[in-house]
Amino acid sequence: MAHKQMIRFPFMGVLVMSKRNLRGPSSTLLKLFAMAAIATVAQSAVAGIANTRHNLGSTGTQTNHLTAGTGSGEICVFCHTPHASNQAIPAPLWNKGGGTPTTYTLYSSSTLDGANGTGTNQLGGISLACLSCHDGTQAMDNMVNAPGSGGYNLPAARMAGAVWTGARVGAATGLMTNAGTFISMLGTDLTNDHPVGIQYCGGGYSTGSAASTGASVGTCSMDADFKAPLSATIGGNTAWWVETGGNTTRSKTDIILYGRAVALAAGGVNSGFYQPFVECASCHDPHTEANPTFLRVSNVGSGVCLSCHVK
Ligand code: HEC
Ligand code: HEC
Ligand code: HEC
Ligand code: HEC
Repeated sequence: MAHKQMIRFPFMGVLVMSKRNLRGPSSTLLKLFAMAAIATVAQSAVAGIANTRHNLGSTGTQTNHLTAGTGSGEICVFCHTPHASNQAIPAPLWNKGGGTPTTYTLYSSSTLDGANGTGTNQLGGISLACLSCHDGTQAMDNMVNAPGSGGYNLPAARMAGAVWTGARVGAATGLMTNAGTFISMLGTDLTNDHPVGIQYCGGGYSTGSAASTGASVGTCSMDADFKAPLSATIGGNTAWWVETGGNTTRSKTDIILYGRAVALAAGGVNSGFYQPFVECASCHDPHTEANPTFLRVSNVGSGVCLSCHVK
């Protein structure tokens, strides 16, 4: 977020200056300066979602995308809507129906300390959001508020006239599939995937919020093999993240932990307290092309893994 401001301020500064001064003798220099600033803005726009596999619209350049459909030239609409979002899925302004949380089978092992939530809370909303496409059970053009006027349909309906192209999408169904060596479609059986919807630190970590005055405040009490997260009050809630360097404020390139207060499955420590969880978007930023496979940080030297695990 800090990054966005950094590029906007110099750009606006140049705009203000150019109104006043561009007719003067130094106008060429100022124009060059303005062009350099605009180039910076253009570059940072390129480093976003448009060229990635998450541009599912008709401007998409990757394997799976639409070639037709009412409003199919948009990008954000496949995941977000400015109005009337689906509040059953606690992800920002979410525009899709969600899968049924209880249909997922989660990772388990004899050495696992952390616990998932129970019942409809066994996965966090952010993971449910990703799985609304990546479990392969819901059309990727299924949405609550379709582009244009008069497109509202809760829980969700397919985009009118949707036509898909791509090696790993059902042309008629709009469902994500796996083909070749790609395993993007994770299915509802998550037992062979890194745990998600699970407490950070192997459980027991909590700090900063009134609701968390339980045991084990501020320590990785169950499993010391984790880096201690940082926390801050943002928007009235405690936000947690694992710092990946640069500063001590939360950035998109930190490993984001998502807070919730839920009853935990058997063995969970601090059940019911507001505490940090690992979700799909802890490791992935669905909007970035800075690293392959939408990773928040480079995984060279297993940088993603070693952000959290002390190994
Ligand atoms: C493929 C799905 C997908 C698409 C397409 C998408 N987003 Fe997101 N977006 C998400 C998910 C999931 C989250 C929540 C996870 C997170 O914290 O990043 C999110 C979070 C956000 C957030 C809040 C958190 C943050 O990083 O600032 C904003 C703002 C946002 N998206 C804007 C956009 C805009 C604007 C577009 C279109 C240019 C877009 N998104 C396209 C899935 C998507
Ligand atoms: C966001 C922090 C985070 C990141 C990044 C992360 N992990 Fe984990 N990992 C966890 C948590 C939390 C658990 C659950 C551990 C527990 O409760 O004992 C876990 C569990 C595991 C387990 C299963 C442990 C068991 O006892 O069954 C393995 C193996 C593992 N991670 C490997 C990796 C690898 C490899 C990477 C990089 C690709 C990675 N992790 C990235 C947080 C993370
Ligand atoms: C609207 C549907 C949709 C949603 C929601 C969605 N994705 Fe995707 N995602 C796709 C499609 C389509 C692909 C390309 C699949 C392919 O080509 O096999 C993809 C690919 C990916 C890839 C692989 C990229 C690569 O280069 O191989 C990752 C990683 C990924 N998504 C993570 C996420 C995460 C994490 C979330 C939630 C934060 C999310 N996705 C939400 C549709 C979606
Ligand atoms: C603990 C970190 C972590 C979490 C949590 C995580 N991923 Fe990933 N994911 C990775 C890493 C690292 C890679 C890249 C693996 C590689 O390069 O071989 C990856 C790769 C992927 C891919 C590309 C697979 C391929 O090879 O085609 C998809 C799709 C994906 N993740 C989706 C998800 C979804 C959906 C979730 C939540 C259900 C999720 N991830 C949760 C770390 C994570």
